[in-house]
Amino acid sequence: MRKYVIAGNWKMNNTPAEAKALIEAMKPLVKDATCEVVICAPFVDLTACLEAAEGSGIKIGAENVHWAEKGAYTGEVSAEMLKAVGVEYVVIGHSERRQYFGETDQTVNLRTLAAVKAGLKPIVCVGETLEQRELGYTETLLKYQTKMALTNITAEQLKDIVIAYEPVWAIGTGVTATADQADEGNGFVRAAVAEMFGAEAAENITVQYGGSMNAGNAEELVAKENVDGGLIGGASLKAEDFAVIVKAASK
Ligand code: PGA
Repeated sequence: MRKYVIAGNWKMNNTPAEAKALIEAMKPLVKDATCEVVICAPFVDLTACLEAAEGSGIKIGAENVHWAEKGAYTGEVSAEMLKAVGVEYVVIGHSERRQYFGETDQTVNLRTLAAVKAGLKPIVCVGETLEQRELGYTETLLKYQTKMALTNITAEQLKDIVIAYEPVWAIGTGVTATADQADEGNGFVRAAVAEMFGAEAAENITVQYGGSMNAGNAEELVAKENVDGGLIGGASLKAEDFAVIVKAASK
């Protein structure tokens, strides 16, 4: 059975007090969700989020994690540390990290390995730029990024991994992929998983769509065969909008 997951990615937004208020506002609105509801927040907000979400179905995630267990990595946070505070999910390889912070397919893989080893559930992001799409490399690129991210992952560990297909040209731009483009991209990701782990594992893995998903287009997107939820940026900063998306994925 494929699990539907709607995850908010707050990015660099919200102080702990704002985080608490937003989770409190979301709680009554998403209480009847049948999909998994996750909020991924900045490190300093995680404790406030966990406290505010307690007793609700909302799960909390971080937005990044380092691959080393511990050591001289000033400014970084380990998977063990996230696990210790009660975090369940972690976003890995978001295109903003790839674009601005030197993230590579290799470091995405290292972070993913560290996360599953510590018992966290990675939300691994893949996606093509507009240039790559126009050159006709979308399928090649998505399969490559997916396979690189999952290198040395075991079939058992794969069960804890969510993959988010996020076309870079659709993130924060207001330009959403059409439902067919999202379905196709997610299908390429699923095909890569099938090539590595077999048809059954590919059938069961949760593949989200992300990129300007909002209250107006969520229903059409999640209705697609290969779209098992979403990774939501801007619309996850508004409780009402986020709740509409959660509702669309709860049908
Ligand atoms: P967006 O961001 O919904 O604001 O486009 C999605 C994401 O970056 O995960």
